[in-house]
Amino acid sequence: SDQSAFDTDVWTLTRFIIETGRQAKGATGELTQLITAMLTAIKAISSAVRKAGLAHLQGMAGSVNVTGDDVKKLDVLSNDLVINMLRASYSTCCMVSEENKELIVTPQDKRGKYVVCFDPLDGSSNIDCLASIGTIFAIYKRVSEGEEPTEQDALQPGNRIVCAGYALYGSATLVALSTGAGLNFFMLDPALGEFILTERNVKIRQKGNIYSLNEGYAKYFHPSINEYLKHKKYPQDGGAPYGARYVGSMVSDVHRTIAYGGIFMYPANEKSPKGKLRLLYECNPIAFLMEQAGGLATTGTQRILDVQPESLHQRVPFVVGSADDVTEYLSFVQKFS
Ligand code: AHM
Ligand code: MG
Repeated sequence: SDQSAFDTDVWTLTRFIIETGRQAKGATGELTQLITAMLTAIKAISSAVRKAGLAHLQGMAGSVNVTGDDVKKLDVLSNDLVINMLRASYSTCCMVSEENKELIVTPQDKRGKYVVCFDPLDGSSNIDCLASIGTIFAIYKRVSEGEEPTEQDALQPGNRIVCAGYALYGSATLVALSTGAGLNFFMLDPALGEFILTERNVKIRQKGNIYSLNEGYAKYFHPSINEYLKHKKYPQDGGAPYGARYVGSMVSDVHRTIAYGGIFMYPANEKSPKGKLRLLYECNPIAFLMEQAGGLATTGTQRILDVQPESLHQRVPFVVGSADDVTEYLSFVQKFS
């Protein structure tokens, strides 16, 4: 019939996490509740990013809001959405957000056993030019045993992640998610308001042909990086030079790296000795997803997921991508050490 192309047994993200929860021994459904709440926040952020309900966001011409004065900035709005949705899910005890200096402790009557570290809207310099931006999150189990959750709950190494994901508000809205059994991609179907499983068990290519970093800082880079970049542009081994791509929005740059292969980096430089990106809610979740896809994630001297965090907003140098590309980069680090 003319309806034959209509899938009547769709794998939505909701179905996927319910199924995953069912298979887990002793699961109480709390993680399912948490992920569902996070996805609701992501859908709302996606709608706001796309200026759906423009009048609501900007104010109609002639209304008080046209100056933007009492309108919440997109990053603040996104942060409020995530915090409120997660609190209301009765599954968290505390959270860390890029937007909040301190640990966000869930009110006692709403507490559950999970800890969430997130960047509600990453790539904020791209908001005003309408380039792609994203949301990043990592979920851990609570470890402290006292009444009150503590910073120790959030300062867990990435190798303890229970689930991580990112949402990319690109030409379509996509969620990449892993609970430790491979990486899956889900695309938002705006007609259903549901994320649909579009790629199962995604793997990154062993080696790519794109490098991605802010090369404008070359003056301040360590010689090992400049030497590596020279090798990408003027290969001595007869190979073709790599292409260069840099959106300046990590979720976009990382998603492209997973989809096409290659390497993305935000290395240390003289001006920022630890790079720019934050371990808890930027590097760790991305490193977890990258490893789930068969890629690598390193500081240059250590696996990202093995870094023991010391403070909520600490930065680390970050290099991720196809295994052969990251390994090649590490050989340049070796040469200069
Ligand atoms: P933000 O959290 O303030 O948005 O900063 C993080 C972003 C990343 O998405 C991106 O990789 C990086 O900053 C780009 O920084 P730069 O402009 O120095 O290249
Ligand atoms: Mg950020």
